[in-house]
Amino acid sequence: MSLNVLLVASEALPLAKSGGLGDMVSAYAAALRDAGVDVSILMPAYPAALEQAVDVTYVARMTGLPGGDAKLLRAQMPDTGVTVLLLQMDHLFAREGLYRDPQGRDYLDNLTRFASLAAAATRIARGVRNVKRPDIVHAHDWHAGLTPLYMRLAGVAAKSVFTIHNLAFQGNHPLAMGAWIGVPPELLAPALSDERSIEFYGSLSMMKAGIVHADRVTTVSQRYAREILTPHFGHGMEGVLQAHAGKLSGIVNGIDALTWNPATDEHIARPYSVDDTAGKQACKRELQQAFGLTRDPFAPLVAIGSRLTEQKLADVVVHALPVLLERHPRLQFAILGQGERGLEQALQELAAAWPGRVGVQIGYDEQRAHMLHAGADVLLHGSRFEPCGLTQLYAMRYGTIPVASRVGGLADTIVDYAPDHGGANEDSATGFLFEGESRDDVLHAVDRALAAFVRPSSWHALQRNAMSRDSGWEASTSHYLALYADLVEARPALRDAPRTRKTPLRQRAASTGTRRLHAEDTFNTGVAEMARSA
Ligand code: ADP
Ligand code: GLC
Repeated sequence: MSLNVLLVASEALPLAKSGGLGDMVSAYAAALRDAGVDVSILMPAYPAALEQAVDVTYVARMTGLPGGDAKLLRAQMPDTGVTVLLLQMDHLFAREGLYRDPQGRDYLDNLTRFASLAAAATRIARGVRNVKRPDIVHAHDWHAGLTPLYMRLAGVAAKSVFTIHNLAFQGNHPLAMGAWIGVPPELLAPALSDERSIEFYGSLSMMKAGIVHADRVTTVSQRYAREILTPHFGHGMEGVLQAHAGKLSGIVNGIDALTWNPATDEHIARPYSVDDTAGKQACKRELQQAFGLTRDPFAPLVAIGSRLTEQKLADVVVHALPVLLERHPRLQFAILGQGERGLEQALQELAAAWPGRVGVQIGYDEQRAHMLHAGADVLLHGSRFEPCGLTQLYAMRYGTIPVASRVGGLADTIVDYAPDHGGANEDSATGFLFEGESRDDVLHAVDRALAAFVRPSSWHALQRNAMSRDSGWEASTSHYLALYADLVEARPALRDAPRTRKTPLRQRAASTGTRRLHAEDTFNTGVAEMARSA
């Protein structure tokens, strides 16, 4: 019998996406399926998800979730056919934004919304008619962070894995709301008094719930797994992570190599491949036209394509651009992104000040993201921290050379070209990495790239290396499978585990000496009661 894995997430491309999380969940699910795993995704039934999912059928009704009653639906992903379970609670999920209203304010009931998702995952792990019980429940980011906690409270046999995609977003809420979502009081006590508490500097933290209660914690690159143990990258969570470092590991993301393939990409002007890059010139022409840039086949064309936020160093890049434009008379920038209003505005002002040399499009546009990676020569990807980063992987596949901060997944996936300093040369380099967060750090890094750009043989070597890099999911999937196997093998008589929740939890608590959780008797029926009485 094949391993059954339930991925729990708030996003999965193309049904919902706000960033790389959506790409990762869908591409990883397809990779698991291809590896013979019986995998499903559980996510909210946002209106756009319901519209795009294929063969939607009713599975079950779930009553008494923290946010009320729900319908569980089953469907297939439109592109890969992977099974997706959609949690329909229109009063919570039928909204314009995933997490925020159109004014950019977080929805006030995000805790209830995503506690409902976690509680639904736990019900499925306990057993819902017509849904296979998972062996592994793999929860992603703070939105699904309560899943491991609820699973522990319910005493389910399935094992839990929690993946951190971005520690900067933690899902922190007033502690007093804990009772509303069925968290027992001792798990809301100051963390010093109980190491299983999900209290975090006076708040309830969904991210911490995932970290503390999952059987294993992963993050999306090895370097980020080390970085988050330090105050500089830990966003205050470093102490919690240090305490759980024994179950933490880093597994780098792959990409969907079918969608992001210059040889078959329907969004770009002309296909090309590592053996024949002629088509890239046509893509460059098209990009220059689409972004209002001067048609100049020899101009170095730098792309920026990301959320426009301080995480992505956009505040620094804005100040570096005018200097670079002065310094390099033919240099061009094509910028696609959205984010902080002030940064969007600053970039638009730059485009007005440098007509034909800076093209800016504010907004989210999947097709243009493909055009950007295909048509540019360089991708500028600054980051103060970067758990993995997918954009640099897409760019490399399209022969667009990344210039990126030496942090997290960027450092793990890009080989810095530094032949003059004893570093990698044309044989293996795939891009440029820089330390620091200042304007001069960015200037220096772009200068290095432009110096290589004017040496065609070096540049083509970098392009060849970048395009040949294996960014597929195979290797990473096998790491996850090994991790799942460890967990499943560690669990006695997996398939024969008793279906009732009380006995196994008590037995386990007694045999391991861990203190039994107070809420085990109240969970599920209890969540509903607490929700009503709070
Ligand atoms: P993060 O999740 O931190 O934003 P990633 O690099 O992991 O960073 O993922 C970003 C994803 O979002 C990529 O698929 C990238 O192409 C996409 N993306 C970001 N901004 C835009 C945009 N304005 N238009 C289209 N796609 C975008
Ligand atoms: C997060 C991170 C990004 C990562 C993505 C997918 O959004 O910011 O670095 O690539 O998740 O794991």
